[in-house]
Amino acid sequence: PLVSGIDMLTHAHENNYAVGAFNYANMENLQAIIEAAEELNSPVIIQVTEKSIKYAGLHYLYALGKCAGENAKVPVVLHLDHGKKWETIVKCIRHGWTSVMIDASQKPFEENVVLTRKVVEFAHAVNISVESELGFIGGKEGDITPEDNIYTDVEQAAEFVSRTNTDSLAIAVGTAHGIYKGEVRIDFKRIQEIKERTQIPLVLHGSSGVPDDLIQRAVQAGINKVNFDTEIKLANLEALKCFINEYPNEYDIRKIYEPARKAMKEKIKEKIRLLSSENKN
Ligand code: 13P
Ligand code: ZN
Ligand code: NA
Repeated sequence: PLVSGIDMLTHAHENNYAVGAFNYANMENLQAIIEAAEELNSPVIIQVTEKSIKYAGLHYLYALGKCAGENAKVPVVLHLDHGKKWETIVKCIRHGWTSVMIDASQKPFEENVVLTRKVVEFAHAVNISVESELGFIGGKEGDITPEDNIYTDVEQAAEFVSRTNTDSLAIAVGTAHGIYKGEVRIDFKRIQEIKERTQIPLVLHGSSGVPDDLIQRAVQAGINKVNFDTEIKLANLEALKCFINEYPNEYDIRKIYEPARKAMKEKIKEKIRLLSSENKN
């Protein structure tokens, strides 16, 4: 079923595990996510960015997400990832998204507080959960160009959470969107301190390219939602290249996409296993 993000992440927060959040932009991509979650009997978050909405259209993405959620054997949250525009957030809530992110992380602190607070009031009136971001998680995501991370300040995070009443908080602790050029370093102490001061579900972005043991340590430190995108896209690309290389004359899109969908599913299962969300249905 399609469920609100409030209960799903509260359960993860209270029981010290994390739920995987995976981006989708087409049907095969989405089916891979749902099949992976079902095979592991794990709750899952499916999410779209404003860029994906531009590509596929809000109504198509909603129809896919609703169909996936309603037919799934596990709880599914339909989430807007990195919502920047108030207009996108309102449209998603009106269509039936069950969770939204307001990403005002590039605005000054006070503006971030005011905008996030406004989204929370609006979303909570219809039981929709809100994720927000404090600090800045760099790298390549949507329209964001590569930039240096601004680590989330612990005291500011405490003030931000109490003033906005946000349901979950994306924090900058060393990860970045896309694949890393150098070694990944995560500030686990900062995760723990933010958790102690805020006592809400915390979100890790930019998780592709982060070694498995670091993901697990981040979850132990207090992360409850882990976003994976690039590695799933790469699994898709590799499988497509491989198939087309082997069968250059095959034009049946179903035959071409079968191994790619399977490759995405296997990669997603690998990620879900790291988060201890199996059998938390
Ligand atoms: P990656 O592409 O590094 O997995 O980041 C995904 C993400 O944070 C989506 O919001
Ligand atoms: Zn992100
Ligand atoms: Na990454």
